[in-house]
Amino acid sequence: MKIYVPLDSAARALGADQVAQVIAAEARNRGLTVQIIRNGSRGMIWLEPLVEVDLGQGRQAYGPVSPADVPALLDGKLSSLGPVEEIPFFARQTRLTFARCGVIDPLDLTAYQAHGGLAGLHRAIGMGSAQIVQEVADSGLRGRGGAGFPTGIKWKTVAEAQAAQKYIVCNADEGDSGTFADRMIIEGDPFSLIEGMAIAGIGVGATRGYVYLRSEYPVAIDILNRAVQIARENGLLGPQVLGSGHAFDIEVRVGAGAYVCGEETSLLNSLEGKRGVVRAKPPLPALEGFLGRPTVVNNVISLATVPVIFEKGAAHYADFGLGRSRGTVTLQIAGNVRHGGLFETAFGATLDQVVNQIGGGTASGRPVKAVQVGGPLGAYIPVEQFDTPLGYEELDQKGGLIGHAGLVVFDDSADMLRMARFAMEFCAVESCGKCTPCRIGAVRGVETIDRIAQGDPGAIELLTDLCDTMRDGSLCALGGFTPYPVMSALRHFPDDFATQKEAAE
Ligand SMILES: Cc1cc2nc3c(=O)[nH]c(=O)nc-3n(C[C@H](O)[C@H](O)[C@H](O)COP(=O)(O)O)c2cc1C
Ligand code: SF4
Repeated sequence: MKIYVPLDSAARALGADQVAQVIAAEARNRGLTVQIIRNGSRGMIWLEPLVEVDLGQGRQAYGPVSPADVPALLDGKLSSLGPVEEIPFFARQTRLTFARCGVIDPLDLTAYQAHGGLAGLHRAIGMGSAQIVQEVADSGLRGRGGAGFPTGIKWKTVAEAQAAQKYIVCNADEGDSGTFADRMIIEGDPFSLIEGMAIAGIGVGATRGYVYLRSEYPVAIDILNRAVQIARENGLLGPQVLGSGHAFDIEVRVGAGAYVCGEETSLLNSLEGKRGVVRAKPPLPALEGFLGRPTVVNNVISLATVPVIFEKGAAHYADFGLGRSRGTVTLQIAGNVRHGGLFETAFGATLDQVVNQIGGGTASGRPVKAVQVGGPLGAYIPVEQFDTPLGYEELDQKGGLIGHAGLVVFDDSADMLRMARFAMEFCAVESCGKCTPCRIGAVRGVETIDRIAQGDPGAIELLTDLCDTMRDGSLCALGGFTPYPVMSALRHFPDDFATQKEAAE
């Protein structure tokens, strides 16, 4: 009998380790031969710990399982959810990037290969640099870290740059509120990231890669370090990647945890041992990045998607999606929502489908008021705009952004003035301090919102003016995009900004 118990941080936070221990102890007492496999999460957080039992006829899911449920689980008396693939939340997904996550033991390289792993790298090794870069361009892949920049164009710039040393830097800082896709794939399928980075290295002529991973992710740090070691021992990394003439190796670096260190130039400074302050662009990191050398900086999901593009072909990947948003988006549904978790689907699903049909509405049972898409710099989108499809351009037209595809749901008890204040406060706390509109503007923003709350009639105009200055004058998107949550809250929920004022009048 095989029993799968996730080792993912979210599952562990909900008791997966205790469940695994009790299963082992109970099986020993009963003299049962049980193989416990610690897999990644299947992404349905409300069902964690989600345990799967395989008696030889396919995996049956149970969840959430508590230690007290274990005797019934082993007796076959616990009520089952059926195969994971038939649970509606899972059945509706298109899993390309996350195809293996939760299916295999994340550190089992043989299982990785049995499920399509390394096929992409083998194919890339047979291609030339220009062909590799073209394949990524043809897939339509755009950066999943926030800005949505075409990955193929970034790689082409680095590939064509002349330098003795080039680098691949993976941005695993994952600071956006409500996001966890980077952590989940690293904990559940780390070889996909390693394989993606190796393909990037071969494609652009880089021999060294760094993963900048936040210190708040101890499980991911541990798993990725072990995976890198296994990859080295098996010739997937090192002087001859899979016996090819290409050298590529990876080092995991742990960031201390500052939101701004997710911004690529600030990240590069931090990686070089300097203070995490944003650098002015140009020069682009693609030309003068880590240690002043040409560097690809890509998000975890961008890089972990590369193997499936090479395994199945660019056309297969590009076949999914909407407009200029090709392929799948790895939505992270969070906040006040009934069914939160990782949902991978082709671009184009509407917010209504995601929040109400897939997410099941709010956990509180109250009406949905808004959803913040794209992290702390994303707009609050009201229910009247829930027909908006999820795509880079489509959200941009609504004054929003898809960012790292985190969605945080709020019910009608949310006070949007407080949320706007929080956005400004967050910017003030996390600002790197390099430019004035952000460093001073965010502090003034908090004060101005407090004045609105106290009923100052002139403060709304002042706030609008301040937001224009921050948007147009900030050096990076931290100061430049903080106006999005603030102004969207003001625009769509004027009543939340008017109550105090009217009460004062
Ligand atoms: C304040 C700020 C924080 C950011 N945080 C992250 C992050 O945590 N992870 C990430 O991949 N990109 C983050 N970005 C975007 C990066 O600057 C960069 O665009 C990205 O790493 C490029 O990779 P991609 O093209 O694969 O998306 C952030 C940007 C800003 C302005
Ligand atoms: S906008 Fe803020 S975080 Fe970005 S460079 Fe300016 S001060 Fe630093």
